[in-house]
Amino acid sequence: MLKKEQNDLLTQTGPGTPMGQLFRRYWLPALLTEELPEPECPPVRVKLLSERLLAWRDTQGRYALTDEFCAHRGVSLWFGRNEESGLRCSYHGWKYDHTGQCIEVPSEPTESGFCQTIKLASYPLVERGGVLWAYMGPPELQPPLPEWEFATVPSDRRFVSKRLQESNWLQALEGGIDSSHVSFLHRGEINKDPLFKGSRGNQYNLADARPVFEVVESPGGLYIGARRNAEQGNYYWRVTQWVIPCFTMIPPRADHPVHGHFWIPIDDEQCWTWSFDYKVTRPLSPLELQSLREGKGVHAACAPGTFRPLANKDNDYLMDRAAQKRGETFSGVHGFGMQDASLQESMGPVVDRTKENLVSTDNGIIMARHRLLRSVKAMVEKHVTPPGLDIAHQRCRSAAVVLPPDQPFKDAAKAALVVQDDHEHVTV
Ligand code: FES
Ligand SMILES: [Fe+2]
Repeated sequence: MLKKEQNDLLTQTGPGTPMGQLFRRYWLPALLTEELPEPECPPVRVKLLSERLLAWRDTQGRYALTDEFCAHRGVSLWFGRNEESGLRCSYHGWKYDHTGQCIEVPSEPTESGFCQTIKLASYPLVERGGVLWAYMGPPELQPPLPEWEFATVPSDRRFVSKRLQESNWLQALEGGIDSSHVSFLHRGEINKDPLFKGSRGNQYNLADARPVFEVVESPGGLYIGARRNAEQGNYYWRVTQWVIPCFTMIPPRADHPVHGHFWIPIDDEQCWTWSFDYKVTRPLSPLELQSLREGKGVHAACAPGTFRPLANKDNDYLMDRAAQKRGETFSGVHGFGMQDASLQESMGPVVDRTKENLVSTDNGIIMARHRLLRSVKAMVEKHVTPPGLDIAHQRCRSAAVVLPPDQPFKDAAKAALVVQDDHEHVTV
């Protein structure tokens, strides 16, 4: 349970808010590289942290992320003409370069120098690992480029997707670190989905619906250990990584690609669910790629040319009561991604956390909230650099292991929780 002020603080990320300041310290996934495929391609509207921006590429192919609206009289530059190293407003022809600098005001004499006084808000946008990352914070605090492992493996070993989620970012994140719902919500999918089936861990998941959580602070956030019974008194541990503010990596299953998410606020009532899958030592197989493209695993099929899932709140997520009754799916919604999103969106755009009744399996969520609150406070009041910016915090991994009962996961699985070059994740 949170007080109203705490809930507001964690869920509001617009300009000037404390949580907005925290998010603005990181490189955030903003677009898939394929959304801006070539020089002078059509610009793309991007709303991030409640700011309306435009992403585009100039004649030289340079990436730009600028204010969406013309400084003259506020027309959307999405209607602009992308021409000769700049974007020209379609209304009266003012032209801007990739840094947002106004370079031409046709109605004014060039000698007046007027256009030099006009500059749009603009943020760095860089390509890495199939993703265009934006940095919206103070230029003097810009961190090194992100080093998440999925973004550093060769491109044939990775798949990344994004989809619209019609809820605040925090309730989406809280679903991502809540390992206990897997035994319920996803139980129909776990042995069927091509990106999950066949792992020994699945049986432990299904057989033991009362996981014991052990949550330990990590350098960048939390290790969220979920313990279930395995054979001969041993424990099956699933260790999820959460790195501040919104990166998670789900523990692996057998040799399947490893997946995880970012939840990036669009505004306070919507976020982008970014999902990635990757392998360290081998390319994704044709079957894996096909399944990923179809929206299997943690991804979701979207309407062609859009990032809105085909199953969405307007069609009740294609609820299938017959499948629910047969036990084929627990909730009646198909697919991991939309099972999660449907329930998280059902809480309303921003859930009222003053009314919750939390239990011990919510420990990961409770600790994540507290760590976020502490990090924001320390950053705002004492200028302390928040966790998750250090490259070492990003070089982390999730793990699935079976351990004897006397071995704490954080010691026994220590090496498995950091990147080991050229070795796969530790998995069951
Ligand atoms: S509104 Fe853009 S040039 Fe006038
Ligand atoms: Fe889930």
